[in-house]
Amino acid sequence: MAFHNDLALDEALDALDPLRHLMHEQDSSSSHSSTSSRSPSPSPSHHAKTTALPLLPKQRRTVHNETLHLEFAHTSTGAEAEQRPPIAITLVVDAGPGCGGIAWPAGEVLARYLVQRGAAYVRGRTILELGSGTGLVGLVAAKLAHSDASAGDGHVWITDQAPLLDIMRRNTRENALEEQVSVAEFNWGTPLPVDIPVPDLVLAADCVYFEPAFPLLVQTLAALVDAREDRGSRGETEVLFCYKKRRKADKKFFSLLRKSFTWTEVRCAE
Ligand SMILES: C[S@@+](CC[C@H](N)C(=O)[O-])C[C@H]1O[C@@H](n2cnc3c(N)ncnc32)[C@H](O)[C@@H]1O
Repeated sequence: MAFHNDLALDEALDALDPLRHLMHEQDSSSSHSSTSSRSPSPSPSHHAKTTALPLLPKQRRTVHNETLHLEFAHTSTGAEAEQRPPIAITLVVDAGPGCGGIAWPAGEVLARYLVQRGAAYVRGRTILELGSGTGLVGLVAAKLAHSDASAGDGHVWITDQAPLLDIMRRNTRENALEEQVSVAEFNWGTPLPVDIPVPDLVLAADCVYFEPAFPLLVQTLAALVDAREDRGSRGETEVLFCYKKRRKADKKFFSLLRKSFTWTEVRCAE
């Protein structure tokens, strides 16, 4: 069969294995290794060397119930910075409940970005994370918001599909954030659960990888912004969306998104 372009080839391969780009990366965490300290690394692609046995398919290491210690440094320099300890998160990772059970690079980048923006950016806000997986980004947001005395009354909701709820709850407990963080099931394309308030800030990291979910995610993002009007809340909803570019077909997500949203690219400080 001949393919006219890379996109057509991508689509044909995706039809055979929809998650191939997500699970077959060479080393998805290496490009952001300066983001945090981590031990051991839960990279989704620790392939065993197969050069000596070229006929065997590449083998992936399974992450099972490991604990990472991640740190996200504040960017300010000088004496003030020395007095401010980094935001430290203990993160249990386990691929058992699904791909979201490990820490993905865009999640670490978004967490790092939030810490660079500083506590004032998240303090007092209602924050909702979509596709939280382990809960990393939302947990960092909550810890950052409460990293100084003037914490305010904001709250963070970390959400995902049912199989991820246990690991999110566990990570919330590990970081003693039960009062600041709520864990909830929220499937894209379904209405915002009534007990989740309209968020001021929506976070989503590494949620562009599975084509059938693209319209559902766009629908949910649009509904979250509209919910503000529907529920009579004031102000605006801001969405921070961080993703790792994996393949040409990802463009389809942004074509769909363009129908409902405009966006600005954010540059992270080095
Ligand atoms: C690649 S993981 C990223 C996890 C986490 N945000 C991170 O950066 O480490 C994508 C997450 O999206 C969630 N997800 C996928 N489809 C979903 C859907 N239809 N509704 C809700 N969550 C979904 C998965 O369960 C998974 O946790």
